[in-house]
Amino acid sequence: MLILGIESSCDETGVALVEAELAVRLDGDAHPKPQAVHAMPRLLSHALYSQIAMHQAYGGVVPELASRDHIRRVIPLTREVMAESHKNLSDVDVVAYTRGPGLAGALLVGAGVACALGASLQKPVIGVHHLEGHLLSPFLSADPPQFPFVALLVSGGHTQLMRVDAVGQYVLLGETIDDAAGEAFDKSAKLLGLGYPGGPALSQLAQTGDPAAFKLPRPLLHSGNLDFSFAGLKTAVMTQAKKLGDDLDKHKADLAASTEAAIVEVLLKKSLSALQDTGLDRLVVAGGVGANRRLRAQLNAACAKRGVRVHYPELHLCTDNGAMIAMAAAMRLQTQPSLAQKNYSFDVKPRWPLVD
Ligand code: KG4
Ligand code: ZN
Repeated sequence: MLILGIESSCDETGVALVEAELAVRLDGDAHPKPQAVHAMPRLLSHALYSQIAMHQAYGGVVPELASRDHIRRVIPLTREVMAESHKNLSDVDVVAYTRGPGLAGALLVGAGVACALGASLQKPVIGVHHLEGHLLSPFLSADPPQFPFVALLVSGGHTQLMRVDAVGQYVLLGETIDDAAGEAFDKSAKLLGLGYPGGPALSQLAQTGDPAAFKLPRPLLHSGNLDFSFAGLKTAVMTQAKKLGDDLDKHKADLAASTEAAIVEVLLKKSLSALQDTGLDRLVVAGGVGANRRLRAQLNAACAKRGVRVHYPELHLCTDNGAMIAMAAAMRLQTQPSLAQKNYSFDVKPRWPLVD
């Protein structure tokens, strides 16, 4: 079965083709081996277009520009993916798209194109949860995790700890009560004049700084639960930057390193608490902030000490992409084939909790 995945929830247009085994046919006919253990779905090709350069001039994502650019990119990217995998559109069995959460207009582009494609090919379509895409993206790596595991989902809009028992079986253990970790990176980076999106730039600069140079708050570190709060950190960075005044440039790398250290310490401690609370010995880290080197180094070291295995998506699949959407659709369909339907009316869900 070939699944075409389309991601357009924010500022990246992603398209991918995944091949998956299915024990039950999508038309509902029983297959002789419904209990079959499926081989892991396989990524055939993927293509991505990042709008970062376009939004940079505005210091953040401009939703209307994002939607228009998705329209421009999605068909050429689809052609690229089909050509690279030496397949034709008529070979596609299911069209998957990000249904939410994300920017409404941007989501509508992917949903509209997916449903139009499905209708013209007379193939079923399936709407996918963007965070489920991130969550299952490590299954695209050479060393995929096994269920159950604790997941740390850290993206630009979400920071959540989850217990994952199987595809679709997610228990929320804790989440941010205000800003997401990615937002803390981005907003702090903006305060330091590092542009958008600030996470990668801030962490790059942090490499030359001293993480202990400035004492910044570790919000909710000792809260006794698994919730996060990062809004206060941004304020502390702003206060520190103002205090430095003209000297900010001289200490910018130190402030970047101290900010990164504060965010990473909280993510690390809470992840370890989640592992302890659940008694699980596998951790999956997904979402854009999962690309952060300091976070990876500290999680790897702490987990190695505790005999916990840590899984990440491949670095280029940490941020938004179409592969994770096609993969999440494939894994969902392996247990719930009825989720793909030849129903081409669609809606999108800009706000959509994963544990729902
Ligand atoms: O998952 P993602 O691509 O988009 C959302 O679904 O939000 O995550 C984007 C976020 C941004 O906030 C970006 O600054 C952050 O991930 N990010 C990083 C790094 N790479 C991306 N944050 C810290 N260090 C990085 N290396
Ligand atoms: Zn994302």
